[in-house]
Amino acid sequence: MSKTRFLTGITTTGTPHLGNYVGSIRPSVRASLRDDVESFYFLADYHALIKVEEPARIQRSTLEIAASWLAAGLDPERVTFYRQSDIPEIPELTWFLTCVTGKGILNRAHAYKAAVDKNTAAGADTDADVTAGLFMYPVLMGADILMFNAHKVPVGRDQVQHLEMARDMASSFNYRYGTHFTLPEVVIEESVATLPGVDGRKMSKSYDNHIPLFSPRPQLRKLIAGIVTDSRLPGEPKEVEGSALFQIYQAFASEEETATLRKAYADGIAWGEAKELVFERLDREITPMRERYDALISDPAAIEQIVLRGATKARSIATPFMAKLRHAVGLRNLGSTSQAGSKKADKAALPVFKQYREADGTFAFKLVDAGGRLLLQSHTFASPKDAGATIGRLQKEGAAALATLDGQYTLGEGVVRQDVTAALQQLADAAA
Ligand code: TRP
Repeated sequence: MSKTRFLTGITTTGTPHLGNYVGSIRPSVRASLRDDVESFYFLADYHALIKVEEPARIQRSTLEIAASWLAAGLDPERVTFYRQSDIPEIPELTWFLTCVTGKGILNRAHAYKAAVDKNTAAGADTDADVTAGLFMYPVLMGADILMFNAHKVPVGRDQVQHLEMARDMASSFNYRYGTHFTLPEVVIEESVATLPGVDGRKMSKSYDNHIPLFSPRPQLRKLIAGIVTDSRLPGEPKEVEGSALFQIYQAFASEEETATLRKAYADGIAWGEAKELVFERLDREITPMRERYDALISDPAAIEQIVLRGATKARSIATPFMAKLRHAVGLRNLGSTSQAGSKKADKAALPVFKQYREADGTFAFKLVDAGGRLLLQSHTFASPKDAGATIGRLQKEGAAALATLDGQYTLGEGVVRQDVTAALQQLADAAA
């Protein structure tokens, strides 16, 4: 069974709050437990540099976010959990993508355009205070995603355009250099409406209306007590519609619990009492995580080891993939250049099909890469002609032929379908 690859990044600029937990951490941790999913989660600290110029804050935030995800149940053995800046292949890929991305596309990025519009409105130079980092943000994000050929990228609605751009970059690169990248799809968590903050607007650090996920108990109680309500008195029926308190409760409570609070609202529960109820419900889910969080955060060196192990795992994919991409764009070993043009020399580095006869008299083939690694093993064929015809189709039609062979082959250990498509493309390119 081939697994769906999920990937998402968390910019390391702040301390996780309840909105992050409900909208991103909790659904991601749950998804990571599915057997049909392979998850990649990373700390987007290169992205953080675009927004924050305080080194200590970057470091602190990276630590807090890592600890939060682990405390919330992310299992670093099961998923690939890493820090972006530990993967040097990502900035390298960023450059490759930069070279196939139209500048005009980046001009239209929402964040960049907003900055330009603000400057224009203020009568300033259009690019005043705009760094090239802000401008290039979508390309770095594209590299994050394409580096691991993610199929699905769960993000907030504000990131949809970035995903479209990543698809664009993938297509441009594939068009020029052969099919190397999967086109990623955006996943928006429709079921979790954005959590309101204590003032009723969307919970966000920039509105200063957020409740830190791991506030100590007394502070959590105090912050919940500060959530805006109307001035209805105890005994007066209350509206759940538009009640931030109710919505926050709903994000944590079961359906029955939610129905009970709905009824209590109608029955005129006092705001103070409702807040106490909400506090206790949230704290019930948070307390065990908070205990793990406090233990983790008091041992930063252990967290460092966890993310470094994640980087090793991530690089076991990124390093060979990047080598392939370097070759594809022409950054190649000069020693492999032949005098008579590059064809012959390239041949030495090409994957090969090997057809053979099984002990039981049937026929099969495998595809191995230039280093001898098994990429694909076919099922058996009655005659060598059938096996040969299938090889021929794979050579001629590449990924399209592969798609028709579902269930008729197995992939080598640690090989993903993308590796096979890339190898077929390499063969097609060499034959062209
Ligand atoms: N830009 C994303 C955000 O602000 C964070 C991010 C960086 C990301 N790289 C990514 C998300 C790659 C998904 C995939 O939320």
